[in-house]
Amino acid sequence: MDLRQLGPNGPLVSPLALGGTKFGRREGVKYPTSFTLPSDGELADLLQLAKELGINLVDTAPAYGTSEARIGALVGADDHWRIATKVGESFTEGKSFFDFSPAAIRASVENSRQRLRRDVLDVVLLHLGDDDEAILREGAALSTLLELREQGVIKAVGASTKTVPAGFFAAQGCDLVMITLNESDQGQRPVLEAAHAVNKGILIKKPLDSGHQGDIGGALANLVCTQGVTAVVVGTINPGHLQENCAAVKKALAAI
Ligand SMILES: NC(=O)c1ccc[n+]([C@@H]2O[C@H](COP(=O)([O-])OP(=O)(O)OC[C@H]3O[C@@H](n4cnc5c(N)ncnc54)[C@H](OP(=O)(O)O)[C@@H]3O)[C@@H](O)[C@H]2O)c1
Repeated sequence: MDLRQLGPNGPLVSPLALGGTKFGRREGVKYPTSFTLPSDGELADLLQLAKELGINLVDTAPAYGTSEARIGALVGADDHWRIATKVGESFTEGKSFFDFSPAAIRASVENSRQRLRRDVLDVVLLHLGDDDEAILREGAALSTLLELREQGVIKAVGASTKTVPAGFFAAQGCDLVMITLNESDQGQRPVLEAAHAVNKGILIKKPLDSGHQGDIGGALANLVCTQGVTAVVVGTINPGHLQENCAAVKKALAAI
C-alpha cells in the first residue's frame, strides 16, 4: 500500500489503519457482539501481522482503557509505527468524562508520551463529544494543542468531530479531521470535501458502522478510493478479519 500524507504536518500513513478501541476497552462500546480483550501475545501477533501487511498507523485514545499503554509497550519503540492518540475524554467506571481545559490537555499529552513511550507524538486529536463546535470555537483546547505542536511535542493536530459545523471548523484550523463515514451514515461527507479542498488529512472512524456493516469488502474498497480520504481506521482484534480487510483494500487500490 502506498503511503499517504496525513495533512500538512502529518506523517505518511497507510490507507488502511488499525483502530485500537478493542485493544483495551470492552465497556460502553457499540459493537454487535461482546468480546474479550486480546492477550499480550495475541495483540503482539496482530500488530506484527498488520506491519507485515503494510499497515503503519494505529489509532488509540486515553478513553480506550488500556489500549494506549498496551500499544506503547508493544510498538512504542518501533519506528515503523505512526500512532494517533487523543485528548479531552477519559473513561472510568463505565462513564465518559470530558475536560478540554489547557491544564487537562497538557497533562493528557504528557501521560500519552509516557504510555506510548514516545517523546514526540505523531498525531493528537481532540476527542470531541456532542458539544464539539463550542469546544473548538470557544475554548482554548485547539490553541493548546497547536502550541504543543509549535513546541515540537506533537507533529500533527486534529479533531475527531461529530457535527458538520465542527468538522468545517476543524478542517480550517487543524492538520486533520477524523469523521464517521459509512454506508448508513453519510452525514459528514461535506466535511470530507471541505478538508480535501484545503489539503487537510481525513481519517475515517467507524467505517464498518462499528461492526454492523454488511458488505465489508465493498465498503472498505469504496472508502479507501474516495477522494480526500487519507486513511480508513478499522477496529479489529481478529487476524483473519485484518487479512481480509487488507486484501479488499489492496485489490481496490490496484484497480484504480
Ligand atoms: N470519537 C472517536 O474519536 C472515535 C469513535 C469511534 C471510533 N474511533 C476509532 O475508529 C476505529 C474504528 O471504529 P470502530 O472500531 O468503532 O468500528 P469499525 O471499524 O467500523 O468496526 C469494527 C467492528 O467490525 C468488525 N470487523 C472488522 N473487520 C471485519 C471483517 N473483515 N469481518 C467481520 N467483522 C469485521 C470488528 O470485529 P473483529 O474484532 O471481530 O474483527 C469490530 O467489531 C476505532 O477502533 C477507533 O480507533 C474513534
